[in-house]
This record gives sequence, C-alpha cells and structure tokens, in this order.
Amino acid sequence: MEDMRYAPIGVFDSGVGGLTVAREIMRQIPNEKIIYFGDTARVPYGSKSKETIIRFSRQIVHFLKTKGVKAIVVACNTASALALETLQPEMDIPVIGVVTPGALVAAKTTVNGKIGVIATESTIESRLYTRVIREYNPQAQVFGKACPLFCPLVEEGWLKDPVTVEVANRYLEPLLATGIDTLVMGCTHYPLLRGTLRQIMGEKVTLVNPAYETARELKILLEENGIDNDGLRPGTEKMHQFYVSDAANKFRQFANTILPFGVDTTQLVHIEDY
Ligand code: DGL
Repeated sequence: MEDMRYAPIGVFDSGVGGLTVAREIMRQIPNEKIIYFGDTARVPYGSKSKETIIRFSRQIVHFLKTKGVKAIVVACNTASALALETLQPEMDIPVIGVVTPGALVAAKTTVNGKIGVIATESTIESRLYTRVIREYNPQAQVFGKACPLFCPLVEEGWLKDPVTVEVANRYLEPLLATGIDTLVMGCTHYPLLRGTLRQIMGEKVTLVNPAYETARELKILLEENGIDNDGLRPGTEKMHQFYVSDAANKFRQFANTILPFGVDTTQLVHIEDY
C-alpha cells in the first residue's frame, strides 16, 4: 500500500475535453501525478454505440494499467455513462466516473426538484444522469437535452462567439421553459461555456460542474484507501504525462489553453494494441 501512495492517477477522455477534469484534480489534489490519455483518433464518443465505447474504454484502462496507476478517473461523461458499470468489476484498482458525482450534487442542490442535464446524445440516451438523480431524489424531474454542436464550437475556441450564443439559445430554450433551477454541464467541454450558459440561464439557475465533484470524490477515495500522495517522498515529484492516439500537436495546443502550465510533450500511443 505504501508504494501505491506515490503511484500516478490515470485520467482518460475521448480527447481534449477531459483536461477540464484533470485541471480540477490538479487544483484540488496538487500532490497527485496524472497520466492523461486522450483518444483523439477516435473522438467523438458522444454519437457512438455502447459496445464501441466499452471496447475503446477497456483498451484505455489496459493502457493506463501498464503505467502503474493506482486509480482511474473516467473523465468522459459518455464513457462514464456507457462503459463504467461494465469496467469497474474487471479492475483491481478504484475506477470512478464523472456522472455519479455530478448527478448527486444536482439532486442535493435543486430546490424546486426540476433539473436539466445537457450532454452528448449517447449520455442523454443512456439516462444514467436521470437514474442516479432519482435514486437520491425520487421526486426530481429531469430534463435531458443533447447539445452535439457544443463540442466542435469549444474546440474551435468560440467560447463567447455570437454563433455559440445563438446555438446555445436554441438548445437551452426548451430547458428554460421547464423552469429548472439546476443545470448539469454533463459533458467535458461544457464547463468551458459556463459564461455563455450563465448568460442564457440567468443567475437563479445553479450550474453543476461534475469535474469539480469528481475531483472531490477522488480525494476522499484516495484518503479512505490510504493511497493519497503525501508529497513527502523525494524523487516522486509530480510530472504529469500526456498521451494521445492521434494529432499530438493539436492536443498540446488545446491543453496549453486549458492547463495552468505549459505541456511540452505529448506522446502517441497505438491504442488498438491494448
Ligand atoms: N468527452 C465527451 C463527453 O464528456 C464529449 C466529446 C465526445 O463526444 O467524445 O461526453
């Protein structure tokens, strides 16, 4: 157990979006070293089938295991919704996703019992957010809305562009009409649109960022298992590592706009080998 303390945490996503989760982990548990994998060759996951997402995710956790990780965070909402339940029992280390932490905080936050969830098509169709919210708060009404255009807009860097505002208005209008008081940003990219979402939803709607809750849950999980890095062992200073399945340069450029430090190297992995 003692050695495990200094092992890294594996974090993966379909691409760059999971960096919002990695960033939150770095902020809340700064002693931990992260091995990040972005499946940039096979993104997007949000429109793919459950079988495909499970196959991709299984390959990635096998890859991360070769890096000696002590826990894995499925930073992708789609993979958390479609693959986590299958993968968890196959693993001998803790594996957590972003959906349950986000859903629980939404269920606890709502006052009027009306919660909106915006996410990819696959996440919405899985209805996992609804299931977890209702387990905690059986009276809650959950309104899901897939927002497939948000990811490309974020990757284009158009976070506050009039085009993005127009698209967001169209997506959010039906949610506004339901009178929700809580909105879950159930896709890795959406917290980057917080300003635009806030502008449209108004100050009274609470925006839930599952990345924040996931980092909190991870911290507690590491402490409870006695595998949290106390930062005391020399030579184990954190040096986060980044791996992708394609387009390493593009990934690095995006990473450098999200993370509070420069990412100089990103390594390519042939993920189909795992
Ligand atoms: N990372 C995905 C998610 O959080 C969004 C991008 C994709 O569709 O792969 O659901």
